Amino acid sequence: MHKILLVIGSLRDDSINLQLADAIMTKLAGRAEVAELEYDDIPWVNQDIEFPTPQGVARVRYEVSHADAIWFVCPEYNGSYPGHVKNLIDWLSRNSDDEHNNVVVIDDMPVTVSGAAGRSGSRKMQAKLIELLDFVGAKVMAEPAVGIELPAQAFSTSELEITPEIDAAISEQVDEFLAFVDEQA
Ligand SMILES: Cc1cc2nc3c(=O)[nH]c(=O)nc-3n(C[C@H](O)[C@H](O)[C@H](O)COP(=O)(O)O)c2cc1C
Repeated sequence: MHKILLVIGSLRDDSINLQLADAIMTKLAGRAEVAELEYDDIPWVNQDIEFPTPQGVARVRYEVSHADAIWFVCPEYNGSYPGHVKNLIDWLSRNSDDEHNNVVVIDDMPVTVSGAAGRSGSRKMQAKLIELLDFVGAKVMAEPAVGIELPAQAFSTSELEITPEIDAAISEQVDEFLAFVDEQA
């Protein structure tokens, strides 16, 4: 069974994207080993502190190196992905070996992206995150991808209603991503 890490791109407790990630995890249950990647303790990228590897970064890289795939579930911030997600990916894109052997844990990693946002349905975030993931050498499954256009009241209630359409879109991405990860293995 493949191990899939979920990266939730929102740090807030009532995150709608966290609720979307929960729905994805429920669908993956029994078909993959699933875990959420905790990364809120990693420092800002700074080449002054790159070696020796900061503890939180070493833990995150260890978890990624022991996973078969990563699924990003992100909000859209100003038409892009949040800065802390960029910071995480920047750390993952760097040489992770204190002996300076060239080991980059995100290289060739199968990844996919989903998100919930306003009118864009997170598509602007998705396009930019896919571009970044491709740049750092991950193997990206860009489509199909769940992109939820939240109704206005969701922004005040912070509740994600899983409609039949959203449920079907999650199922489709789960099926296709598991097949994609199989192909890369
Ligand atoms: C800095 C910032 C920028 C935002 N920019 C956008 C945006 O460009 N498009 C959009 O649909 N929503 C935007 N939002 C609203 C968030 O997408 C919305 O609050 C969403 O619920 C956040 O995801 P979360 O519930 O998972 O935290 C922005 C929110 C913040 C904090």
